[in-house]
Amino acid sequence: MVRHAFASGICLSLGLISTFASGAPLESNESDFNNVVDYVIVGAGPAGLVLAEELTRQSRARVVLLEAGASGDTNPSVQTPGIFFEATYQYNWPYYSAPDPNLGGIAPNLVQGRMVGGGTGINAMLYSRGSASVFDEWARVSGNQGLAWNSIYEAFKATTHWTDEARIHYSQPINTSAFGKGPLEISRQRELFPIDTPFLSTFADKFKLPEIDLVSGGGIGVSQAVESIIASNHTRSYAHNSFGYEAAGRSNYRLITNAWVSKIGFHGTTADSVTYNDTTTDTMRTLHAKEIIIAAGAIKAPQLLLLSGVGPTDALRALGIPMVKDIAAVGQSLIDHHMAIMDPGEPSGYQYDYNATFRSEATAAYARDGSGWLGTQGGDPFAATRLPDSVLSASSSYLRNLPRDRAHVAWGYSNQAMLVDNSQGVPNVSTVSGYAALVQPESRGSVSLSSADYRAAPLIRSNYWGTPAERAAILWAYRQLRETFKAPAMARLAPRELFPGANATSDADLWSAIQRSSSSWHHPVGTTALGTVLDANWRVKGLKGLRVVGSSAAPQIPTCPIQAAIYALAYVAAADIKRADRI
Ligand SMILES: Cc1cc2nc3c(=O)[nH]c(=O)nc-3n(C[C@H](O)[C@H](O)[C@H](O)COP(=O)(O)OP(=O)(O)OC[C@H]3O[C@@H](n4cnc5c(N)ncnc54)[C@H](O)[C@@H]3O)c2cc1C
Ligand SMILES: *[C@@H]1O[C@H](CO)[C@@H](O)[C@H](O)[C@H]1NC(C)=O
Ligand SMILES: *[C@@H]1O[C@H](CO)[C@@H](O)[C@H](O)[C@H]1NC(C)=O
Ligand SMILES: *[C@@H]1O[C@H](CO)[C@@H](O)[C@H](O)[C@H]1NC(C)=O
Ligand SMILES: *[C@@H]1O[C@H](CO)[C@@H](O)[C@H](O)[C@H]1NC(C)=O
Ligand SMILES: *[C@@H]1O[C@H](CO)[C@@H](O)[C@H](O)[C@H]1NC(C)=O
Ligand SMILES: *[C@@H]1O[C@H](CO)[C@@H](O)[C@H](O)[C@H]1NC(C)=O
Ligand SMILES: *[C@@H]1O[C@H](CO)[C@@H](O)[C@H](O)[C@H]1NC(C)=O
Repeated sequence: MVRHAFASGICLSLGLISTFASGAPLESNESDFNNVVDYVIVGAGPAGLVLAEELTRQSRARVVLLEAGASGDTNPSVQTPGIFFEATYQYNWPYYSAPDPNLGGIAPNLVQGRMVGGGTGINAMLYSRGSASVFDEWARVSGNQGLAWNSIYEAFKATTHWTDEARIHYSQPINTSAFGKGPLEISRQRELFPIDTPFLSTFADKFKLPEIDLVSGGGIGVSQAVESIIASNHTRSYAHNSFGYEAAGRSNYRLITNAWVSKIGFHGTTADSVTYNDTTTDTMRTLHAKEIIIAAGAIKAPQLLLLSGVGPTDALRALGIPMVKDIAAVGQSLIDHHMAIMDPGEPSGYQYDYNATFRSEATAAYARDGSGWLGTQGGDPFAATRLPDSVLSASSSYLRNLPRDRAHVAWGYSNQAMLVDNSQGVPNVSTVSGYAALVQPESRGSVSLSSADYRAAPLIRSNYWGTPAERAAILWAYRQLRETFKAPAMARLAPRELFPGANATSDADLWSAIQRSSSSWHHPVGTTALGTVLDANWRVKGLKGLRVVGSSAAPQIPTCPIQAAIYALAYVAAADIKRADRI
């Protein structure tokens, strides 16, 4: 990847102190922290790293990026797609929802990435954009026309490039013109797994779905989804080794890891400082900045605003937090894809977890040339459709009036056992899991504070399947998933349903199974949304010097996994900020 050249290093209008300049890592000289920089970005996920890379192209913009987590880029669990869940367990904020009454009191896991790369260092690497009208909605509710599909499409392209597999063994439609020359490499798995094609063709036949590519604006159909993966050696491609590596070494840029931000400081209604715990030395430090950009994700961004006195007055007063700005919407409108999981039994050809010979062969193939089981995250098939009218008839106007290009529900499967983190009496034996998800939920959860201590986990309310219409939708989708695993083409591959089990047949049985197996798909958005909390230029309404960018800013959820949308959103935000701040 080519590093961007800089114009000669003269500091212009925003330019401040000379001690920031050149060379020495910022953390090596404490006195530098007493000086003002131009931008402090909180959080090195895809949003923070895209912003840092884009803003530091302007040599006069001096940028510090603070990340609570560590680097992690040399860890095999981060690099190796087939064991991505080991990274998920290692680099995270171990958050759970409060017990969800809709689920009979189960508390879904809402783990968030905590490392340079954020969620993109621990995620399942599916790369998808989905239905165009979601982005038109973003533009409409925010007043930011750059977010409309026709505009943000350029950002999707500019953040990525496509590199195909040299030794591909199957064909699928992929619009390679939908990628550009951006830092993030997108490719696909080398070999199909036995379940992939029968799974997708069963859904395609049943619901008359076309085969689509999920990157050109469509979201209803079946797709062997592509991955954020490096084609040559099948290692993870993510925000750190793309945008992060491009920015590294620029003299106007400092990345500080193990820097856990506790509070934004204000002078009146102008944000002017960030206080963080340097957790390697357990020292609190304060850094002043002309502009602070929170890019801390959908759970941590609202938490940080609330801790800093920006949010609903009553809730903050109750915790004794001094008020800066009353904004009732902070932490509200949490939107998250959620799913119910089925265990169709152990098919042959999926033995990584329990067959030592299979495992050592897979390890050798991956070491040789990135092939085989470990070279992919192992669950690329994606099928999505509208609900039939019969399911919608007793249902809400929201789901009935959903724009016609959007799916209501999606299905997928994974060669990972997805029920392992569930103690609700769900069997824990198979190596394959199927799932049904709502991709345009109408109910909303929330994030609030459980404590004024920044180290405490926030209080998350998931509110999954929160309306009768959503419960009808998932019940229908879960039955379709079971029927798919029972289809003739699948019989050999899903030998015996282990969960919920053949004796679970009534709506009540299946609803109970849905409750017990419900999980986040890990795509939370909307908690500091454009339109309510933020103005069209990413500023917190009524405050100066403070913006929020990233998943928390998205006012509606895409119809499929969302990392593509977050990279693109941040790319649009960076251009907006450069234009508004004239850097
Ligand atoms: C387990 C999992 C699986 C997923 N699978 C997929 C998938 O397959 N495909 C897909 O498209 N999407 C997937 N996603 C979603 C995608 O990764 C996220 O939507 C995306 O990473 C969000 O980007 P972000 O920059 O808004 O926030 P994040 O990626 O969450 O980054 C925020 C960063 O800010 C840091 N931070 C937070 N608070 C503070 C603080 N107070 N001080 C300092 N630093 C702080 C965090 O440590 C983190 O590094 C998955 C996510 C998870 C968690
Ligand atoms: C820190 O920077 C200041 C100003 O450039 C310099 O005078 C001082 O010697 C440096 N301190 C250390 C410990 O490097
Ligand atoms: C593929 O991408 C190109 C370039 O962006 C676009 O013009 C075209 O409409 C896309 N084709 C399909 C089939 O979506
Ligand atoms: C994978 O290949 C890329 C591109 O050649 C290279 O930069 C990277 O270091 C490789 N990663 C690993 C873990 O070998
Ligand atoms: C700083 O972080 C460390 C490690 O997480 C924690 O143990 C300590 O309590 C924190 N210190 C302060 C002052 O918050
Ligand atoms: C274990 O895996 C090997 C290699 O794929 C295979 O030949 C063997 O039949 C498997 N053993 C069992 C018990 O399925
Ligand atoms: C399920 O099995 C896995 C792998 O054997 C194990 O690590 C995990 O602890 C088990 N979970 C439960 C809830 O039993
Ligand atoms: C199905 O049978 C299992 C095992 O006997 C039992 O635990 C479960 O409760 C039964 N489920 C239903 C819905 O009857």
